[in-house]
Amino acid sequence: MDLRPRFLEAMSRAATFVAVATTDGEGGRFGVTISSLTSVSADGEQPSLLACIHHLSPAASAILKNRAFAANLLAEDQEAIANRFAGRGGEDHPARFAASDWVTGPLGQPLLLGATAVLECRLATAMLWETHHILVGRVMGVRLSENPAALLYGQRAYRKAVGLEGDGK
Ligand SMILES: Cc1cc2nc3c(=O)[nH]c(=O)nc-3n(C[C@H](O)[C@H](O)[C@H](O)COP(=O)(O)O)c2cc1C
Repeated sequence: MDLRPRFLEAMSRAATFVAVATTDGEGGRFGVTISSLTSVSADGEQPSLLACIHHLSPAASAILKNRAFAANLLAEDQEAIANRFAGRGGEDHPARFAASDWVTGPLGQPLLLGATAVLECRLATAMLWETHHILVGRVMGVRLSENPAALLYGQRAYRKAVGLEGDGK
């Protein structure tokens, strides 16, 4: 039994929200589309979250150097941004940024306008696990937009959430 394809198929059934992790500083300005973003704790010194980013992604090296990043949670109309930051358009990182509107957060990180929520983090700790860096961020600030409708990814396609009948939503 080949475990890898079964693992990939299993994880494709875990629908997730989609985020772009961005960073800026002396390590440069980079961004990458991720679905590995997870809340760790709301009750530590600051809230914390983690993200897993491939060790060959320039965004991972830049986050490790800049010691900060922003988790930009994409809205359901931001599929093109997800594709761009997944490298699907073949654009370099400056071109990926140029196609959207950003503001700079208090930690100097690029915050995406129109994202449902943006969490600006200081890098607290990082661990290289085989192919991926597991990055834990302390959340120093949260921006919330008017639009909470998230872009989702599951079964190898972008999706949006619809309420179950009878939920009234
Ligand atoms: C929906 C979606 C989720 C992704 N999640 C992750 C992730 O959690 N971690 C990761 O390293 N790559 C993830 N990727 C792949 C990276 O976005 C992609 O390999 C990377 O951006 C390639 O661009 P680069 O030229 O910056 O390396 C995901 C891609 C998509 C489309």
